[in-house]
Amino acid sequence: MCKMEYFLLLTISSAIFDQTWCQNYSSSTLRPNNITNPTVVCENMGTLQNGICLCLDDWTGASCSISNFCPGQNLKQFTFPKTVLGQFASSVERCPPETTNAGIPQASALCNKTSHSFDSPNTVDCSLTLDTINADLSGATPEQKQNLAASTQILTSIPERLTPHNITNAAKITNKLLSDQLKTQNMDIAVSAVATISQLLNASHEMYTSVDHDAISVLTKTLQKLSLRENSNSLLVQPNVAVQSLKMQTPIQNVQLTSLKGQSDFFLPDRIKLNTGHAEIFKDNVDLQINITLTEDSNEVVGFVLYNNDQFFRSKSFQPSLDTERKVMSANIQENLKFEVMFTVTPTAVSTLSLNDFACVFWSYTKNDWSTEGCTKITSPSGPAVCRCKPVKNGNGNANANANANANFAILMAFDVNYQYSEALHWISITGCALSVVGLSVTALYQIITRKSRGGSPTLLVVNVCISMTVFYLLFLFGINNPVEHVNVAKMSGENIVPESDHHKYSDQGPCTAFTALLQYFLLLTFTWNTLYGINVFLLFKNSVSGTPSWFPLVAMAVGWGLPAVIVGISLGSTYHVEEPLGYRQEEFCWLASVDHNQKFSIKKPMFWGFVLPLLLMLISNTAILLHFSYKICRTNPNLNRSGKTSLKKKMMSSFSLAVMLGLSWVTGYILMITQEKNLKFILSVVFCLLNTTQGVQIFILFALRPFLNSNPAILNYLHAPEIGFHKKSFFLWKNKIPESNDSYKSTDGDSP
Ligand SMILES: *[C@@H]1O[C@H](CO)[C@@H](O)[C@H](O)[C@H]1NC(C)=O
Ligand SMILES: *[C@@H]1O[C@H](CO)[C@@H](O)[C@H](O)[C@H]1NC(C)=O
Ligand SMILES: *[C@@H]1O[C@H](CO)[C@@H](O)[C@H](O)[C@H]1NC(C)=O
Ligand SMILES: *[C@@H]1O[C@H](CO)[C@@H](O)[C@H](O)[C@H]1NC(C)=O
Ligand SMILES: *[C@@H]1O[C@H](CO)[C@@H](O)[C@H](O)[C@H]1NC(C)=O
Ligand SMILES: *[C@@H]1O[C@H](CO)[C@@H](O)[C@H](O)[C@H]1NC(C)=O
Repeated sequence: MCKMEYFLLLTISSAIFDQTWCQNYSSSTLRPNNITNPTVVCENMGTLQNGICLCLDDWTGASCSISNFCPGQNLKQFTFPKTVLGQFASSVERCPPETTNAGIPQASALCNKTSHSFDSPNTVDCSLTLDTINADLSGATPEQKQNLAASTQILTSIPERLTPHNITNAAKITNKLLSDQLKTQNMDIAVSAVATISQLLNASHEMYTSVDHDAISVLTKTLQKLSLRENSNSLLVQPNVAVQSLKMQTPIQNVQLTSLKGQSDFFLPDRIKLNTGHAEIFKDNVDLQINITLTEDSNEVVGFVLYNNDQFFRSKSFQPSLDTERKVMSANIQENLKFEVMFTVTPTAVSTLSLNDFACVFWSYTKNDWSTEGCTKITSPSGPAVCRCKPVKNGNGNANANANANANFAILMAFDVNYQYSEALHWISITGCALSVVGLSVTALYQIITRKSRGGSPTLLVVNVCISMTVFYLLFLFGINNPVEHVNVAKMSGENIVPESDHHKYSDQGPCTAFTALLQYFLLLTFTWNTLYGINVFLLFKNSVSGTPSWFPLVAMAVGWGLPAVIVGISLGSTYHVEEPLGYRQEEFCWLASVDHNQKFSIKKPMFWGFVLPLLLMLISNTAILLHFSYKICRTNPNLNRSGKTSLKKKMMSSFSLAVMLGLSWVTGYILMITQEKNLKFILSVVFCLLNTTQGVQIFILFALRPFLNSNPAILNYLHAPEIGFHKKSFFLWKNKIPESNDSYKSTDGDSP
């Protein structure tokens, strides 16, 4: 309803504010599915997409009716929760607190695909560390190796607890286990090792900045070799990694591997489909697909490795800043055969992002970065991003072609953020703002005209508050909506260039940033002058005979106009770049940036330290002065009956009215920010909106209308209007409570009769 509310709320409290508030309901409400096959009904919370059911991980089959899990089970002394087929369950029992591995599961069990129940559990020694395992591995017997593999899987089963050191160690261990496995063909070890790798891929991005990248490189190369195990046609799948090998029975030219979409993003055995050219071709609900085409028929071994994210491939040139993931596909051929790969990945279906452009790349182990050499983009205006790569051998590649050919492919996508540009101002806001502008201008004029009766300081302060607020309202009316809106249309370029980031950035065109800086300045200005007003009253009270010190107006001018400028300067200087204006401001409307890339309110953003924090300090100091002042006034027992002496209290209270009024509406804003209850939130937002847009009107009543009427009692009587004043009640209270006082006061305001 109210723009002011939108303005503050979206900025201050987007973290707390439901994301749903910002959504475009007309496009996001569930439309009835365009059911091409009306007989399909998805069970077990499966959702229909393009006539195909997308199942939860626990279910499979065309209508999600086939169970895909081992139910919870007690085995030996351990309890295992419900788990997806082919994955490891961690025991509910944890290592006791006094042990090295406190909190790590004591056991794990594999959910058996054929029996739909857990295999016999593996246990871990609660004092074992990855360092020890890494050291023990070389001399271990096959049985011991199997134990160590299982232990490594358990020790790495809580991704949040993995440190860079743990990841490096686990990578070294799994690399040794898998290299061994290539000779011994022990499947249990391979399954544990692949599960460990999947868990490593689930560790947080931050951890990967300081892992040993050589250990990771060696591991990815070993996985490539693992996918080419000669005597097995097998698929090893864990949530974040899949290894598929295929020994062709007859000479074949084409092999296609497809990972189908489910509701989760993870790889599951029944979603990974291998197709050797004769079987069905998967086109719908494809998450990723990779085709290997050999230049001649062959019956060699072909292998694929799929990674759910690119944590093992940390690029220097491509630095993602949005929370997107990139799947990495490795295609491998055993012999030094000529081949070509085509691959596609469906962009993440996040409604706030749309694909702007992409690059087809492979991982260069020599550069330790993505490279586009030998890859081309196949663009169609609306179709998926498709890539074709012809392997290029790296310099030293001939001796060991498989490990060195460009085998790890990915599509690096740059997205546009679909900003929900704010709507035009509501008429309530426009009316409120316009009335405020008029009220403030009249007040400023009135104060200037009647300045003689009051003295310089109060006039200076009120007039400055009026000016800064007037400018703020005008800026708000005309500048809050971003004049340069980016319409997101994919502009796929034919060139295959590695983008700098997953966020396609537009360089700044100026107006919105200028408006933001001016809004920040004039809003801070309003509050600075408001605080100075409070300080002025405080000084007046302290020196009730001599009045405000003579230096005050000068200092007030310097601080009043200077301090906000300094804050704006620091905010701009430290966060603004022409290529990346969104460090300083928002895109949806012209106001300070407040949230990090996770859409969480961040204290590192200028909204907090360049606005909320200074504001809070000023509000606190105003409140402190007000409390101090009220306390003193009660203590000094002013006499409110005697005319002439009442004036000071009146003046002082009216000066504080300003502080209270300004403070109140912003405090409402702050409460609004932390309120979760929907109804209260609505009421508060209406109150906030009214208080805010009509502040100028309130100032007009306090500083122009009321003094004017008070100095012309005839008009007042003629109109039979009740005295307009916020403090009437308080005066009555004090009148009854407080006995006489002989203090004499100087007037701060010009409204004495
Ligand atoms: C919401 O989405 C619909 C359909 O996509 C579009 O026509 C409409 O303009 C959008 N409304 C707003 C406020 O963005
Ligand atoms: C469903 O989709 C088809 C083609 O994609 C279209 O012709 C048809 O009108 C759609 N039906 C509905 C009910 O939207
Ligand atoms: C899984 O269960 C099947 C059938 O009960 C059994 O033959 C097989 O050995 C089990 N797998 C493992 C790894 O224990
Ligand atoms: C993981 O690393 C930390 C130190 O980085 C270490 O204290 C801890 O023991 C390691 N965990 C395991 C299971 O080795
Ligand atoms: C990976 O981590 C996410 C959260 O960090 C969690 O929701 C998910 O279940 C984890 N997946 C696996 C397979 O451990
Ligand atoms: C893979 O090959 C199949 C059949 O030749 C084709 O339909 C599909 O589009 C190809 N996929 C990619 C990603 O090129």
